[in-house]
Amino acid sequence: MRPRILRYESLPSTNTEVARLAAEGAEEGLAIVADEQTAGRGRLQRAWSSPKGAGLYFSILLRPTIAPDRWPLITFAAALATGDALLEAGKVETDIKWPNDLLATERKICGILAEAIETPAGRAVVVGIGINLTDDAFPREIAGVATSVATQAGRAPEREAILSALLNAVWRWYSLLQEPEGAPKIVAAWSSRSSYTAGKLVRVTNGAETVQGITQGIEADGALRLETAQGIQLIRAGDVSSVRPAGVNA
Ligand code: BTN
Repeated sequence: MRPRILRYESLPSTNTEVARLAAEGAEEGLAIVADEQTAGRGRLQRAWSSPKGAGLYFSILLRPTIAPDRWPLITFAAALATGDALLEAGKVETDIKWPNDLLATERKICGILAEAIETPAGRAVVVGIGINLTDDAFPREIAGVATSVATQAGRAPEREAILSALLNAVWRWYSLLQEPEGAPKIVAAWSSRSSYTAGKLVRVTNGAETVQGITQGIEADGALRLETAQGIQLIRAGDVSSVRPAGVNA
């Protein structure tokens, strides 16, 4: 893959634009960056606030050859890549919250949205990454749970350096995933970089369903193993939030 970047001042959504070009036959590695998005999308049908210049709004087209049941690991690879880029070029240390939010000081600094699409050249995936560069990237109402590179690093973020590190890192981790023994290596690397992997009391919300339990590791396909009152459950979708045990500084 040789990433090719297209830059836009404004787009509804970089994911949507990559999907459109993929349908027209774009090759793997097509990447799109926009200064702003007017209809940025997040996981679980949410909107992703994307004001001009306040965030990095990036999407890349991948045409994976790995088995379909390993495709969830593509977002794991993207989370590892973004963690590398933020450390290398943003001087920010991150934690990964299952499945692929990046947190800094327990607040969200980056979100990842991977969408599988059908194209004439076969099934493909658009990986969209949104990084909060400054606090203007997110609405005030979520200031308690969101953060930015500027706030964490204490200086103005170098957008181009972060973008360039991100492209290299996405390529590196995605290449590893595509190697014969790549999938377990991705799961191991992801697990070592997430405080959510094991021993964490969490609540998982999926639509109207909520389940609480203690995390017990990651399955080979990326599912989160959760020990609940009813036994072990494998979580493949939903929103995870950390629960503070009662009585501890409550
Ligand atoms: C999430 O945490 O809900 C995922 C957010 C993903 C946002 C990025 S910004 C670039 C790309 N284009 C979109 O419309 N969404 C993703």
